Amino acid sequence: MSLKILGAGMAHPGFVLSNSALSEIVETDDQWITTRTGIKSRFISTNESLLDIAMTASKNAMQNSGLKSEDLDLIICSTIQGDNITPALSCEIQHELGASCPAFDVNAACTGFIYALDIAKSYFDAGRSKNILIVSAEQMSKLINWQDRSTCVLFGDGAGAVVVTKGSNLKAIKVTAKGNSDLLEISGLTGNNPYWEGEKPDLFLHMKGKEVFKFAVNSMCNDIIDVLAESGLGIEDVTKVIPHQANIRIIRSAADKLGLRDDQLAVNVDRYGNTSSASVPILLGELMESGELKEGDIIVLSAFGGGLTSGACIIEV
Ligand code: ACO
Repeated sequence: MSLKILGAGMAHPGFVLSNSALSEIVETDDQWITTRTGIKSRFISTNESLLDIAMTASKNAMQNSGLKSEDLDLIICSTIQGDNITPALSCEIQHELGASCPAFDVNAACTGFIYALDIAKSYFDAGRSKNILIVSAEQMSKLINWQDRSTCVLFGDGAGAVVVTKGSNLKAIKVTAKGNSDLLEISGLTGNNPYWEGEKPDLFLHMKGKEVFKFAVNSMCNDIIDVLAESGLGIEDVTKVIPHQANIRIIRSAADKLGLRDDQLAVNVDRYGNTSSASVPILLGELMESGELKEGDIIVLSAFGGGLTSGACIIEV
């Protein structure tokens, strides 16, 4: 299959919000958050726009790829909500990079990065692109109710980016959607006209945590089993699984069912919390920049989230 990663990069805001600092604004404590989620701190924007964070990740990925902006023939950005409804975040990134290629955003919540890889693959397979920048950037801090302790402790801000080119390193990919706004929803602006007679929803994230937990573990297991089967690889051939960083208990529970060793599992939820679609490429960027991943390594990316959506893929580094 026609895709190869040329370079990866990541970025986050400067402010680190610890669990103990959070306990000063909502009734919670470090022990509850750590044992229920594995999160110790998260990065929260104080004066950074989403574009600022996305640009740093994009420039890092471009530099690590060795390409110039004129080499790009597509920019795909995954985000739940950019700085503006329009222009799209991808168009703003294109402008800031000085690129001249087409650019568009996709919204598949936490699975956005895997969806973007699937779209990139299709562009390569159709012979329409040579080099594509994928940026996943999220500012969950603007979408949560900071008085709701059951959600505000879970999320953080950040961005991850990769430059991909034509190649044969994508071994298998799968994406799914199961429309359901009951378990996880962030409403958009509704009824913003003087004649509106319906309800006006609040604009914050609502989630049925226990049900989403079950969906997450099942999706992660099924998706990884399916892409392994499609690729002809076994779980023992995998160097690292890079899962969506929502909750360490989701990751461990799926890892146990899949028979993964601890050293096969990549985790940074303790430092980032859940950064939605940015979580997988942030972790990928950290592993590539630190040299922990080497050429020839087999990685499995897996994500799940709002929609409900899920997906996984296998890539040779
Ligand atoms: N501090 C202290 N106590 C809390 C907190 C808090 N921050 N939040 C909830 N509690 C309390 C609850 O009120 C409840 O108290 P009660 O028993 O007296 O009623 C108790 O802790 C247990 O709450 P539960 O909801 O049962 O806790 P659970 O073990 O299910 O953990 C969690 C909750 C962390 C949300 C978990 O269900 C989870 O991770 N779900 C999956 C979330 C996820 O993966 N989302 C991904 C998609 S996100 C996206 O797409 C944007």
